Amino acid sequence: MQKIQNTALPADQTQNGFFGQDILSVDQFDRQGLAYIFHVAEEMRSMVERFGSADLLQGKILANLFYEPSTRTSSSFIAAMERLGGKVIPIHGVQYSSVSKGESLPDTVRTLETYADVIVLRHPDVGSAALAAHYAKKPVINAGDGIGEHPTQALLDLFTIKEELGTIDGLRVAMVGDLKYGRTVHSLTKLLKLYNVTLEFVSPPMLRIPNNICLELKHVGIPYRELENIHDVIKDVDILYVTRVQKERFSDLVAYEKVKNYYIVDPALMSQAKGKMAIMHPLPRVGEISYAVDEDPRAAYFRQMKNGMYIRMALLAAVLGKA
Ligand code: NCD
Repeated sequence: MQKIQNTALPADQTQNGFFGQDILSVDQFDRQGLAYIFHVAEEMRSMVERFGSADLLQGKILANLFYEPSTRTSSSFIAAMERLGGKVIPIHGVQYSSVSKGESLPDTVRTLETYADVIVLRHPDVGSAALAAHYAKKPVINAGDGIGEHPTQALLDLFTIKEELGTIDGLRVAMVGDLKYGRTVHSLTKLLKLYNVTLEFVSPPMLRIPNNICLELKHVGIPYRELENIHDVIKDVDILYVTRVQKERFSDLVAYEKVKNYYIVDPALMSQAKGKMAIMHPLPRVGEISYAVDEDPRAAYFRQMKNGMYIRMALLAAVLGKA
């Protein structure tokens, strides 16, 4: 649906390319757009470090609508909005909303946008954010649509890669674990194809990266390999992006049990890795990275998680025309 634009705002705040827009897929971003969001995220971080909060989004309301469990994505969106002076309608746990009475997603979204200025949506169905955006006049931000995409996570992942290694071009990045159902892997891979990288997809045979993503990589000439053994890549990678096997996406729990502990990153494995590299994970982890690795300076997953709030502050400010 055509989005409402507040033309009373000064032009410099509305011409960032994101004002009034939905954020549904990483396909919307080019290198210039990413550089802009990362620059605003850096400014948000220094603002939070110096003052804690600002009044940039004072008077604005975010509807935070989560139809799937979440700790980090949900709470970092709330923190992002509140640190910018805005307010939040949290709908967490659909059992407490009219969804439990059988209300449709379009009707729920049409309701929330009459109260809020922006909607963040997590939902188990691929394409749900696009469906919500079709009915909403206010910007919709996709916080994970089933096994589809998780664009805001990919932005914070890419930001973290740049922060940890100082560059993105020239890196060798390994994605490890559930590459079939892991939406964060799908979105991050799509973003990385804008850079000069080499990709290693390490997974059990039943959890391989989807073919459509391989086709996209071939199309732009990004070199990649599909492997099963993590030892074949550990010595050479600059980024080890580890993921949880997505239990909730399995119809056959016997199959899940077979692959759930396929890879475990522990100090012995890390002793073979480069001195300058980063271990990342979107979290939650359920055993793929042993706690003993947390003390390793290359363990970047807690820094990565923290970056999520700055990226989401930048996105909220951008779509509301205040960045
Ligand atoms: C991820 C997700 O929800 O896709 N978590 C997150 O948003 N940080 C990854 C996962 O659940 O495994």
